[in-house]
Amino acid sequence: MMSVTGFVANGASNFEFMDELIINPFELAGWLLCVAVLIWAIISITSLLRSRQLLNQQYLQGSLLLEEKFNLMRERRKRVMDQSVAWEGFANFVVVRKVLHGDSGICSFYLKPKDERLELAPFQPGQHLVFQLPIAGAAAPLTRRYSLSDRPGQDYYRVSIKLQLPPRDAPDAPPGVGSSYFHNELDEESASSYKSLIQVSSPAGAFSDDPLDSKPVVLIGGGVGITPMLSMLNSIIEENESREAWLFYTIRANDENVLFDEDMLHPRIAEVMRTRSNIHLHIHYTQIKEPGSLPNDLPFPIDQHCGRLTVDQFKTILPSNNYRFFICGPERMMVQLSDDLVSWGVPEEDVLYEHFAAPTKRKTANDSAEKGTIRFAKSNKEIEISADDGSILDAAERAEVPVSYDCRAGSCGQCMVAVVSGKVSYSMRTNYKCPPGSCLTCSCLPDGDVVLDC
Ligand SMILES: Cc1cc2nc3c(=O)[nH]c(=O)nc-3n(C[C@H](O)[C@H](O)[C@H](O)COP(=O)(O)OP(=O)(O)OC[C@H]3O[C@@H](n4cnc5c(N)ncnc54)[C@H](O)[C@@H]3O)c2cc1C
Ligand code: FES
Repeated sequence: MMSVTGFVANGASNFEFMDELIINPFELAGWLLCVAVLIWAIISITSLLRSRQLLNQQYLQGSLLLEEKFNLMRERRKRVMDQSVAWEGFANFVVVRKVLHGDSGICSFYLKPKDERLELAPFQPGQHLVFQLPIAGAAAPLTRRYSLSDRPGQDYYRVSIKLQLPPRDAPDAPPGVGSSYFHNELDEESASSYKSLIQVSSPAGAFSDDPLDSKPVVLIGGGVGITPMLSMLNSIIEENESREAWLFYTIRANDENVLFDEDMLHPRIAEVMRTRSNIHLHIHYTQIKEPGSLPNDLPFPIDQHCGRLTVDQFKTILPSNNYRFFICGPERMMVQLSDDLVSWGVPEEDVLYEHFAAPTKRKTANDSAEKGTIRFAKSNKEIEISADDGSILDAAERAEVPVSYDCRAGSCGQCMVAVVSGKVSYSMRTNYKCPPGSCLTCSCLPDGDVVLDC
């Protein structure tokens, strides 16, 4: 306990202590300011957190609503697909409109069922129709496939067909039989009801896109390979406002360009290009070397490039490689782009391509597939084959072993046979996935000796 004497004796120092207790007004103001700043910071952080929470809730609600809308649309489309009586075999259709696209050699055919009671079967963008063509002098009708080139939901089907001229190394060969039939023998119904008739099967094919999917897409069409891409792009524009889509169209020169021709792109394309930042169009001209020679009379601004399309350009143009890539065009372009996309880190399942014709140069993943003996068990025949000889289907034809086929391009599954023993190696990735123990003879070579059940 402190004594009175002690207090008196220490009087001076206690007054100093009291002095220290009297708070300096500047110091007080400083403290008050600190407290105010602290309170302001707490309030700001709380309200920031609250508004972020609100935003998150709104975003979640928005995406849930969008997902719900898409699910409803998917459900509706599935119901239509399930209910629709896609006809069996081939049905009679009429050409209601025929449009030749300038000097491109491509002609569009608008088709409607002859029997008005027959409803158009729905389809997925990217799918194709199979036609049976009554070629004069041929023992049986010729089968040809053509991609649907407009979006689903119209009251017609449209196919756009390029007249196949003889190849450069065989200029005296006849032009393509099927495409010549379309270009030269078929007429609009208004011109000749007899010449407008054509046999069509319901839409088919595994190369397709669901426009309601949210995954952004890159659609690459080379020459007439633009046809399935037009269907995909037009459907995305029509059905999915929020989906990002890039179209890359490669042609030699502008006279091959069909993009801006009558109704090829969605009727609202000009407005879409002005108002939507998620739709991008690029044209690559392989034979134009100088930017000054690029066409300057396009109906709306669009990116144009000289030279071939390469994955290096994707690396500079696309924000990332996180896209699903659909490719259809000349074989060399498809092989190069798909290989380079996979090397860039795009998963193989996101690189999808459609062959319009069987590859001419066979190269398999496995070098031992260069040579082999094929034994056709049912026909009791055997044949030696090397990589230059074409596919197993070509070999079967040479050995006069009956194997049915249709597309010869890995799309239809018609040429599938069971592999009794041995292995095969594919010269291209196929759209049709056949079950284990079987092979698509149009697209593979024997990997050593094989025995096939045909
Ligand atoms: C799923 C799928 C979708 C398709 N979509 C489309 C499409 O949308 N648009 C389109 O235009 N095509 C498309 N095709 C391609 C189409 O099916 C045909 O393959 C194409 O039209 C060629 O058929 P063709 O009967 O006219 O030619 P073919 O008669 O098969 O002839 C092919 C080529 O061989 C040449 N030839 C003929 N005889 C000889 C000879 N003796 N020597 C050397 N060469 C010769 C011809 O001049 C021609 O260039 C698609 C194919 C598939 C598989
Ligand atoms: S013929 Fe069509 S997949 Fe082989």
